[in-house]
Amino acid sequence: MRIEGKVVLITGASQGIGAACAAEFASHGARLSLTARTEEGLRQAAPKDALLTAGDLTRDETRRIVVSRTLERFGAIDILINNAGAGLYGPSWSTPMEEVRWLMELNFFAPLALTQSVLTHMRSRRTGVIVNIGSIAGKVPLPWMTLYSVSKYALGALTEGQRMELRREGIRTLMVCPGYVKTAFQQNARGGQPPETVLLSRRFAISSAECARAIRRGVERDARTVVTPRAAWLLVLAMRLFPALVEGRMAAINQTA
Ligand SMILES: NC(=O)c1ccc[n+]([C@@H]2O[C@H](COP(=O)([O-])OP(=O)(O)OC[C@H]3O[C@@H](n4cnc5c(N)ncnc54)[C@H](OP(=O)(O)O)[C@@H]3O)[C@@H](O)[C@H]2O)c1
Repeated sequence: MRIEGKVVLITGASQGIGAACAAEFASHGARLSLTARTEEGLRQAAPKDALLTAGDLTRDETRRIVVSRTLERFGAIDILINNAGAGLYGPSWSTPMEEVRWLMELNFFAPLALTQSVLTHMRSRRTGVIVNIGSIAGKVPLPWMTLYSVSKYALGALTEGQRMELRREGIRTLMVCPGYVKTAFQQNARGGQPPETVLLSRRFAISSAECARAIRRGVERDARTVVTPRAAWLLVLAMRLFPALVEGRMAAINQTA
């Protein structure tokens, strides 16, 4: 899809990958609707003329308001980027259920609810792109954040299933699986800390601008999946070909936590 003139709704746009997407899509002529909880962060990230809606996406009301305000202002939504999300470190077997529900509310139910609401509109126009920001953790389970992986696997299945469901309706879905991106994701995550080895691998992380560029290109070339950096495909492939080996290595890393 060509970006110029398109209306793009981006969640989690006050910082990190979402803010970088706002800059990237604006520089290619998109009209933006941005949302996150922090109004000040949104203002700093927002290019001129962007519509800003501050609110917590774990709440139904915020999800409803952000879509209705976008349609009121622009009359259309061409691209929805479900980017808002958070990490949760710690063992799955001892994490309080309340925390698990919060995680799924933000990382899975919010994208699903926004997609349902936006699809009513997109299906009537027979055009649109749903972009879901998953993670490499949604392709290979990371034992220091198993529940986060669960939320991203769920988002991946939703993206692939909806692609088939909506095939004849002119609507496409794109799954984005970033590896390590330099943002405040780890500081903003709940639970404990990742293992030292994981923290050290930050030196291989890509910038949020590089990640946003890969996302924009993915939309332009009608991609199904974007894994960024591309080298992360090697881990996905290794998991498919040698699962016991990869699981053993991951378990060993997790024991150092
Ligand atoms: N960084 C990485 O290494 C990495 C790797 C793979 C995947 N990802 C995924 O990429 C996405 C963006 O992550 P990031 O690295 O940019 O993290 P980040 O810097 O922590 O940004 C997260 C964004 O989500 C918003 N957000 C958080 N909770 C929210 C809520 N309850 N309601 C509304 N907005 C909320 C935050 O804004 P407010 O605080 O203002 O609400 C912020 O704009 C996430 O889905 C994450 O899982 C990140």
